[in-house]
Amino acid sequence: MDRKPQEHDAIREYCRSHLASIISQGLEPFPACVFDLEVLLNAPVVDLVRVSRVLRSDVQFSHRILHLSNAILKQSNESARTVTEAAVLLGPCLFHTAVVLCAVTEFGARSTRDQNAEALWLHSVQMAIVSEGLAEQAEYPVRGAAYVAGLLHDIGYLPLLVVAREQEKVFRELGAIHWRDNIDLEREIFGFDHCQIGRWMAKSWKFPSSLIDAVLYHHDPRGAGTNSHLAEIVCAAECHCSSSSPEPTKQATRVHRNSSESLRRWNMFAGA
Ligand SMILES: [Fe+2]
Ligand SMILES: [Fe+2]
Repeated sequence: MDRKPQEHDAIREYCRSHLASIISQGLEPFPACVFDLEVLLNAPVVDLVRVSRVLRSDVQFSHRILHLSNAILKQSNESARTVTEAAVLLGPCLFHTAVVLCAVTEFGARSTRDQNAEALWLHSVQMAIVSEGLAEQAEYPVRGAAYVAGLLHDIGYLPLLVVAREQEKVFRELGAIHWRDNIDLEREIFGFDHCQIGRWMAKSWKFPSSLIDAVLYHHDPRGAGTNSHLAEIVCAAECHCSSSSPEPTKQATRVHRNSSESLRRWNMFAGA
């Protein structure tokens, strides 16, 4: 950061205390309908009437799913008028993926949650698809776990995004800090990096230990111990994704709508 030392200190002080207050408040539990949808969307034949009934039980969350679904469908010039229509157009796996991403972005001010989900979507789904492919090549036994680990590896960015957005408003005259993709700078500014914050989030939501370790160690799998294989897969996917452009991802996402079953083969809340 090219700033005067006192500006640097003020921003750092603000970011650290804001992040500490977020952590001390804890995370909201996932909306109850997420668990019901996981069961329904994993069924061999998806019962759309029941999916629609479950979605109607949480109108606000359903609106968020519809918003994200339409952001995805825009890539292929399609749109859905209802969330059930979105489930049909995306297919059960990609629709479930959108539900999960909306659940982990139920965080911070309500007005910014859709923005957070969209900010994370493209890289997250690219990582999920690539991690799944690498898991298959590496004969990792649970491809669905690799898919979810790729999808959720960067959830720790979300609290940092919330804090950084506020920092921008409060210190308008100083401009934004450019901390993305720089773990050392994240630690310096926020006191924690996105891997450490991701681990806190994953533990709060009681994700399986292999997933927690993949989130914590996805930039350096050497620390993951017995769970290092999954972290290694996500780390390799990250290397691949950082060297490729988003355009192939958009194509991959379209193919994925019809082909991938991974998320349906792994219950992410099973505690396995
Ligand atoms: Fe990361
Ligand atoms: Fe990443």
